[in-house]
Amino acid sequence: MSLIEDLKWRYAAKKMNGEQIPEDKLNYILEAARLAPSSSGLQPYKIFVISNKELLNKIKDVAWNQSQVVDCSHLLVFAAWDGYTDARVSAVFNYTMDQRGLPRETMDDYKQNIMSLYEPLGKEWQADHAAKQSYISFAMAIAAAAEQKVDATPIEGFLPPEVDKLLELEGSGYKSTLLLTLGYRDADNDWLVNMKKVRTPKEDFSTEIK
Ligand SMILES: Cc1cc2nc3c(=O)[nH]c(=O)nc-3n(C[C@H](O)[C@H](O)[C@H](O)COP(=O)(O)O)c2cc1C
Repeated sequence: MSLIEDLKWRYAAKKMNGEQIPEDKLNYILEAARLAPSSSGLQPYKIFVISNKELLNKIKDVAWNQSQVVDCSHLLVFAAWDGYTDARVSAVFNYTMDQRGLPRETMDDYKQNIMSLYEPLGKEWQADHAAKQSYISFAMAIAAAAEQKVDATPIEGFLPPEVDKLLELEGSGYKSTLLLTLGYRDADNDWLVNMKKVRTPKEDFSTEIK
């Protein structure tokens, strides 16, 4: 099936049936998320893959009680850097240069440029910028799940500071940004399953400038 067909198939399931997804599909989805592009290639985010029911129940309590959080197979919690530091950026660039067999100094000027751009903008701007990068990875995971015929519900409806506490993220330099439930739709009990997919009409969505 084409990507467009897969995207038409997917929807934000409101009810999942508790069935587990195979390990290879989970890994495929995580790999698509890992391969997402990010600003300067920094990938300032990571993913927690949660299947522990006790923890999922606690997360559900701070996620508007959304049932998918416990009825899913796995919950992905996206967490982004709480700010950019020289050490963090250097670690990524050093790793990249090592992987490419280039001298570590190769990216020094570029690194100075982005740090002098980001530093004056403050921690809040930086955390927001990092969070935006995590959304790109999130979208890749959603598309990959659709390709694998795995349902994925994107969730912003949760209290990030509470999830941070449950995952003991305080002091880790990461803050939760998004949840993604992976599993299978409960087609008999989900009110949304047969609803028409509605999007902005094509003519309003894009404007061609020749
Ligand atoms: C960033 C983001 C946050 C969302 N948060 C929630 C949520 O907390 N709970 C939920 O059921 N759906 C959530 N959704 C799903 C949207 O409501 C849904 O994607 C949109 O209405 C389009 O419908 P479709 O995905 O079923 O095609 C979210 C979607 C995105 C992209």
